[in-house]
Amino acid sequence: MAFDVARIRALYPALQSGTVYLDGAAGTQSPTSVIEAIADSYRRGTSNAGGFFDASLRADYDTAAAREAVADLVNGEAGGVVLGPNMTTLTYRMAQALAETWRVGENIVVSRLDHDANVRPWVQWAHRAGVEVRWATIDLATGELPSEQYRSLVDGSTRLVAVTAASNVLGTRPDVRAITELAHASGALAYVDGVHATAHGVVDIVQLGADFYATSAYKWDGPHVGCVIASPERLESLRPFKLASSANDVPDRYEWGTPSFHNYAGVAAAVDHLAALDDAAAGTRRERLVTSLRAAEQHEHALFKRLLATLEADPRVTLYGKAAHRTATVYFRVNGFSPDDVARELAAQDINVWSGHNYAWEVTAALGIRDTGSAVRASLAHYTNDDDVDRFLAVVQAL
Ligand SMILES: Cc1ncc(COP(=O)(O)O)c(C=O)c1O
Repeated sequence: MAFDVARIRALYPALQSGTVYLDGAAGTQSPTSVIEAIADSYRRGTSNAGGFFDASLRADYDTAAAREAVADLVNGEAGGVVLGPNMTTLTYRMAQALAETWRVGENIVVSRLDHDANVRPWVQWAHRAGVEVRWATIDLATGELPSEQYRSLVDGSTRLVAVTAASNVLGTRPDVRAITELAHASGALAYVDGVHATAHGVVDIVQLGADFYATSAYKWDGPHVGCVIASPERLESLRPFKLASSANDVPDRYEWGTPSFHNYAGVAAAVDHLAALDDAAAGTRRERLVTSLRAAEQHEHALFKRLLATLEADPRVTLYGKAAHRTATVYFRVNGFSPDDVARELAAQDINVWSGHNYAWEVTAALGIRDTGSAVRASLAHYTNDDDVDRFLAVVQAL
């Protein structure tokens, strides 16, 4: 069998204890290959980059290899991969650099479906630059982000459209391509948050029309490293704040201070691991990623269908969001129990889920649940199996 979840699970030390990890949307587990790549980088002797000796050359190598790997993962160019501590930090950096080019009278468009990390940096820099902020809204009944609304939101003065490729709570996958086409038709740039989406299917930033695509390796089995991918030409055109003494090349211009070189070794290992999820995948790493991530998505959805059907059949359960295209992530409440209570009950049975707004600040406010504990989020990953789903459902049904 090409996608063999038992074979895959055996690769993760954390999965051997019996804990059910349905918290992948907040961070995934790492396979031994990733753990060893990072440990090995420490073992071999370490240094800062840019020197003449081996330890330094290895730091250069690990950085270049991480960029190549991320480029393969999203179909970008290695020379356009900015690495940093996490997506939020990098998005603030990009917002500062882009806001330098905005003028009073212009506008940007953000969405209420987005994680706050793809909202607040833009809103705050827009206020600083004196540009108008326009909001795309969600359909509360379905959790969809209708793309048609962008026809009236975007005009010739729009500089940026920030939109998510998938909601980290509702799982909604908006029609990003339709939105970026409308943005581009008006001359605006598109900044796409792929932090939740990347782990759950094939990503092609060319196909999405993303001028910038943000992702975080810890959501796809890697270490805590954030990435923003753009074309090198686009990065070249912007002037982020930086030290006078640091490199002015791209993508280095956007990378502040001494990076986490050891973690970079883990980024490349994580991408290699994803490319091998389907052990019949063949060809270049990009081709293997496409095959493997398609298989992983099918696997997640087969499990998710059952999980969702069982929750839907329970009259005590309220489900938020039912988008036509979504990731295997469910957001729900159980009548008579606070979201924290449900998460606590599950934790008592060694099942990890999150309760609360999960930084989906605007979504939870729009749904009117933010002030009352929001909801419970269970998110499947490629390593989730039938037993995980059974154990989760058994606890919810016994409440
Ligand atoms: C959809 C989405 N966007 C952005 C972020 C922020 O990412 P980071 O933790 O790398 O800053 C998260 C984190 O949970 C997320 O789920």
